[in-house]
Amino acid sequence: MVNVALKNVSKRYGNVAAIEGVSLDIKDKEFLTILGPSGGGKTTVLRLIAGLEIPSEGEIYFGDKKVNDIPPRDRNIALVFQNYALFPHMIVYENIAFPLAIRNTPPEEVKKRVQEVAELLEITRLLDRKPKQLSGGEQQRVALGRAIIRKPDVFLMDEPLSSVDASLRIAMRTELKKLQRMLETTLIYVTHDQTEAMTMSDRIAVIRNGKIVQIDSPDTIYDAPKDDWVASFIGNPPMNLIDGLAGNGQVQLAGTQSSIMLPKSKVGKLASGAKVRIGIRPEDIRVSSQPLDGMSCSGEIYLLESLGDSTIVDVKVGNSIIRAREKAGFRAEIGDKVYLRFDDRRLAVFDAQTGSAL
Ligand SMILES: Nc1ncnc2c1ncn2[C@@H]1O[C@H](COP(=O)(O)OP(=O)(O)OP(=O)(O)O)[C@@H](O)[C@H]1O
Ligand SMILES: [Mg+2]
Repeated sequence: MVNVALKNVSKRYGNVAAIEGVSLDIKDKEFLTILGPSGGGKTTVLRLIAGLEIPSEGEIYFGDKKVNDIPPRDRNIALVFQNYALFPHMIVYENIAFPLAIRNTPPEEVKKRVQEVAELLEITRLLDRKPKQLSGGEQQRVALGRAIIRKPDVFLMDEPLSSVDASLRIAMRTELKKLQRMLETTLIYVTHDQTEAMTMSDRIAVIRNGKIVQIDSPDTIYDAPKDDWVASFIGNPPMNLIDGLAGNGQVQLAGTQSSIMLPKSKVGKLASGAKVRIGIRPEDIRVSSQPLDGMSCSGEIYLLESLGDSTIVDVKVGNSIIRAREKAGFRAEIGDKVYLRFDDRRLAVFDAQTGSAL
């Protein structure tokens, strides 16, 4: 049982700042995902928690114990990386047993624990095989087995599913989440895949350019992104962002003849003439061939993309493309004139200069 805290941690390599001023408070038994684009600093955060790197500044705590100077082997953590590096000459049994074997655990105890872990991960029938006789997903499970056998206080996982194929990845997501619940262990998970982060995490820490941009539950990150960058990073397709000028409780959308009404809660926050960026998720837009009550703007159909369970409708409005999610079977022709209605309760408004949510 342990909570992990980073207090104002920075890591520099020469004059490159890999992360800067990162503070994170990860609760005991929490599934926290560090999400961000390549080069954002995700692996650096994980390696610092593992003790594989020493912070240039700031402190790292496990519970109330400062661990800055504690070597990795004394932190009782388990690491799983993308390249899970099983020992090729050892059978699965030996691979899983390895962390206990090197700690001089009595053989009967080792045997019992390997059996338990193998049952949990449903790999009992694979125990006698060598890694090269396993599929990618099976290898990944063995790597997980090797990580959990020691009963670590904290799991650290760096893109552990990125080299398994798409359908297995979806299955493994569910399994990982279940496993973490069962083991009741704090899990810090790194990924650049927003869907993975959204589906598994209790909370998501979004990191970009070495800084944490937002830490919240998946729902809050989705519904109330802190800035326009987070808004466009989360969601598939992501949130539509449309520039405009505020005035009289409305926003004149740039490059169009259209204005949209702002919700009352936002109007008070905007000076007349303020440059804003409107954010609206595709599923919060309705597309119709007839003018709609509370209509937001009109445009023409640019592209239709069927996803099976829904259809993504690209509408050209002035110079911009606005993407809406409509029901499966939505019918229209390219070039048709259509009317859009934004659900104004779901409208986000960002400052166009700073990108911050208003
Ligand atoms: N040992 C190092 N020496 C110099 N720069 C480094 C070192 N390790 C990382 N960096 C730099 O720090 C930044 C953050 O790297 P990091 O590996 O943490 O990113 P990441 O978010 O894990 O990216 P990815 O998704 O590609 O794995 C990058 O700009 C990287 O080039
Ligand atoms: Mg990385």
